[in-house]
Amino acid sequence: MDLNQELERVAGLIEWRLDELLSSEPAPSGQERLIEAMRYAALGGGKRLRPFLLIESARLFGVAEVDALDAGAALECVHCYSLVHDDLPAMDDDAVRRGRPTVHVAFGEATAILAGDALQTLAFDILSRPSTHGDPSVRVELIGLLAVAAGVQGMAGGQALDLAAEGETLGPMEVAKMQAMKTGALFSFACEAGAVLGRADDLARGALKAYAAAFGQAFQLADDLLDAEGDEEAVGKAVAKDAGRGKATLVALLGVEPARARLKALVGDAEATLAPFGDKGGTLKDAARFIASRRA
Ligand code: IPE
Ligand code: IPE
Ligand code: MG
Ligand code: MG
Ligand code: MG
Repeated sequence: MDLNQELERVAGLIEWRLDELLSSEPAPSGQERLIEAMRYAALGGGKRLRPFLLIESARLFGVAEVDALDAGAALECVHCYSLVHDDLPAMDDDAVRRGRPTVHVAFGEATAILAGDALQTLAFDILSRPSTHGDPSVRVELIGLLAVAAGVQGMAGGQALDLAAEGETLGPMEVAKMQAMKTGALFSFACEAGAVLGRADDLARGALKAYAAAFGQAFQLADDLLDAEGDEEAVGKAVAKDAGRGKATLVALLGVEPARARLKALVGDAEATLAPFGDKGGTLKDAARFIASRRA
């Protein structure tokens, strides 16, 4: 099976599980609109790359994908929440996401904020359930790791740096730090959670951590290149916005061609980190190549 088919297959599984998780309890009376907004935010789109990496990382250690599905769904809830808030007028002020109106455009700002909040807490609810893993100590470890990855040292902190940097000139190291937090942290959680579920040794965990660091940087660089040169229809969100908002990106700092060269180097770095896994690392290598060549 080639990577595109595999990505589609796993995305289908995640969609199915999220649909179940978001409909397993009837909406308390009066909360139908909030649930509808949460479902709108989480279902019906997205590449599902973070759960894909989580499932593929766990697979390296013999974990069946069904046993990594709920941790992947939880991570995707945090990612979807981050997108809902990222698009708000107070942040990037975007009207289109995944080829559809953003959540605040479709449901209003207050409901979008609350849908993001509730998706975030749903993630931790899912991680706390025995269906995520039979061993409570594994569940607690996942909860702690996701809390740190999504919080002030991770995604939320990186988003704050991203907004503070609008119109400022950051150096390449500062841009890399901000991107490692806002984007890299959730990819790092994906790989680390796979290692936790697979009870991997320190060596394997370290290798996956290095992979995720290179992957996260490459992923955001590819996203920034798509903003600079991508096609709005294909990408499913507005493009050519970062420069106008004065976003601190490597594309702004280096220019498109050097940024492309950097992206290629990062993909090489990501591939190299997988050496300890031999042939088993093939899918993760393909995933790193995929993100660099993606058009959507
Ligand atoms: C978009 O992430 C946000 C960034 C970190 C650049 P994705 O490109 O993974 O978004 P979806 O989930 O596929 O829509
Ligand atoms: C990453 O950056 C956003 C998050 C961490 C949620 P962007 O702001 O560039 O993401 P897009 O381009 O809106 O998807
Ligand atoms: Mg943003
Ligand atoms: Mg944005
Ligand atoms: Mg972007």
